[in-house]
Amino acid sequence: MEAFKHYYFRKYFNYWIVLTLCIFFIPLSADTYLITGANGAIGEAVVKKLAKDHDLIMLSFNEERLSVLQKHLSDTYCHEYLHLCIDFNDTDCAKKLIEFLRDKQKQIHGVLIVTPRPNFGNNLLAERSNWEEMFQSGFYGPLSVLKATIPYINQHGKIVIIAGTSSVTYLPQYAGAAVLRRMWTTLVKGLAFQLGPQTLSINALSPGVILTPFHEERISKRAEENNRTYEEQLEIETAQIPLKHYTTLDEVCNSVQFLISNQSDGITGKNIVLDEGLSDSY
Ligand SMILES: NC(=O)c1ccc[n+]([C@@H]2O[C@H](COP(=O)([O-])OP(=O)(O)OC[C@H]3O[C@@H](n4cnc5c(N)ncnc54)[C@H](OP(=O)(O)O)[C@@H]3O)[C@@H](O)[C@H]2O)c1
Repeated sequence: MEAFKHYYFRKYFNYWIVLTLCIFFIPLSADTYLITGANGAIGEAVVKKLAKDHDLIMLSFNEERLSVLQKHLSDTYCHEYLHLCIDFNDTDCAKKLIEFLRDKQKQIHGVLIVTPRPNFGNNLLAERSNWEEMFQSGFYGPLSVLKATIPYINQHGKIVIIAGTSSVTYLPQYAGAAVLRRMWTTLVKGLAFQLGPQTLSINALSPGVILTPFHEERISKRAEENNRTYEEQLEIETAQIPLKHYTTLDEVCNSVQFLISNQSDGITGKNIVLDEGLSDSY
């Protein structure tokens, strides 16, 4: 009997090795997250954080940069990274995504909606066309993408919308954007009720100033105007912030990771303010 066992062990030894290697090296099926604005400062930071352990569907506007990002991820990690270019200014922008999702048949565990930066200014009595432009690219477009995605979201799936602190604080320079942010945070509250029976959670994350290249450039400009170094300007600007610094991309990623994970189970319909305590200071 022993000789019989040894014979078969030796005979199939190579197969055992291959099977063991497969178990260790073939990645197990991973959760999938869909992210819009994937090329942007916030989107790309989140994408790079999630790519290590998850499959991703990345949506953005610029095809070339999206392909470079996808290649970088595929060269660095071992999950599936799909991408699709989408223009939120196109009133029919979800059509492409509907076909894409039907074709891929991927179950989605979470969605992060990052909208384009609103370019509206502070004149609340602007022309109708200005409002329409902002609402199309900053609200209707991203909302139609979310709607197209919902049938593919798993039970207990999570949706996160990046809004901004102008949803809770009056910031004169972002007066137009504030209307948009409020639309999202109000929608989030309503959708929490509408999507709750499907076990889906939805929350808004409202960062204050994040140290992205966009804001770093603005700080540099103000430093130059005031004849200060970048560090001096930063220190003065953040003096009134309780945590004494602007929000970092890492902090944004951590909050997003929390909100799309089961660590945030039970939290829905909320607007989570990530501004180092500023909107609560007086
Ligand atoms: N940075 C901050 O401090 C901060 C704070 C609070 C809230 N926010 C808000 O968060 C959002 C993202 O900020 P961010 O700093 O990541 O901005 P960003 O770097 O300018 O990224 C914007 C993203 O939107 C995409 N986009 C632009 N136009 C588009 C269109 N027509 N259709 C589809 N996608 C389009 C861009 O795609 P491509 O790159 O492919 O062109 C890019 O991925 C903005 O709404 C911003 O106002 C930012």
